Amino acid sequence: MASLAAWSFLVNIVNALHGGRRDFYKILNVPRTATTNQIKKAYRKLAKEMHPDKNRDDPEASEQFQNLGAAYEVLSDEEKRKVYDKHGEEGLKKGDFSGGDPFSSFFGDFSFFGGGMKEQNKEIPRGGDVVMDLEVTLEELYSGNFVEMVTQQLGPGRFQMTQQQVCDDCPNVKMVPEEKVLEIEIEPGMRDGQEYPFVAEGEPHIDGEPGDLRFKIKQAKHRRFERRGDDLYTNVTISLKDALVGFEMNIRHLDGHLINVVRDKITWPGARMRKSNEGMPNYENNNVKGALFITFDIEFPKGSLTDEEKEGLLKILKQESKQMFTTKHGPLK
Ligand SMILES: *[C@@H]1O[C@H](CO)[C@@H](O)[C@H](O)[C@H]1NC(C)=O
Repeated sequence: MASLAAWSFLVNIVNALHGGRRDFYKILNVPRTATTNQIKKAYRKLAKEMHPDKNRDDPEASEQFQNLGAAYEVLSDEEKRKVYDKHGEEGLKKGDFSGGDPFSSFFGDFSFFGGGMKEQNKEIPRGGDVVMDLEVTLEELYSGNFVEMVTQQLGPGRFQMTQQQVCDDCPNVKMVPEEKVLEIEIEPGMRDGQEYPFVAEGEPHIDGEPGDLRFKIKQAKHRRFERRGDDLYTNVTISLKDALVGFEMNIRHLDGHLINVVRDKITWPGARMRKSNEGMPNYENNNVKGALFITFDIEFPKGSLTDEEKEGLLKILKQESKQMFTTKHGPLK
């Protein structure tokens, strides 16, 4: 995390120069023109890296994480961002924007309690761990996406609750079941079955430890593409004519871009073409992509040919007649 340390150091200097006023754009490392999605993406990336649990040796980690949360809270909200751009953090304090906990908007001040709550240590209440399936399309896994999930009833014995403080110091916290919208980033290249602590990482809990909320990626079946690792597979049926004389076609990819396929040699049933870099983006490094394998099937014309046409074809093909049994290991010699 050397680069992260250097980055935090830089942010601190910038803060100092600004007399303690924080530059939210610098904290998130985005340009002032960044779109909301860019801001969200930058936030999630940095939140993963800068989480205090991962930076226990850094005494300033917690404060930096809070700065990050504050930056996100302001810049991801159009109204607050406008005020901030015009009047800075001071402007936000004057306005009606006293947000309190900067994380409440993103992490949510909710908590999940599993059925096993009673068995748990009474002194340190802890939310139960919850794993939720998240069905995503191959398109989303290719391009990435932000989705909103409304969570409420999570299944038998599990319910979601929102904590609401009744008064400032009173210890009893009223639990009210409530719908909650969670924003989740589907990162390009995520894999089926991959679990990702999208939201509850560091989820605050007023008087205890947070439970984990993890989403498990469920890749939906796709009509045209099959995925194996980072490679994609697709089947294309061409006409016998095209199989013999060659063809050119465009295949629409998951993000809409076209893959040009050209062949002038003869194509046989089951022939497979490999297009490098047209597979899925690799999760660890989105710039690296797998391959796309196109398997061809041939559609024969129906009906019959005239004697004249048959003569013509025989002259062109000059093929010997041949009959062979075929096994699963290939032709039987
Ligand atoms: C392509 O065809 C093969 C053989 O019929 C089949 O097993 C495979 O599932 C097909 N792939 C797609 C993406 O439809």
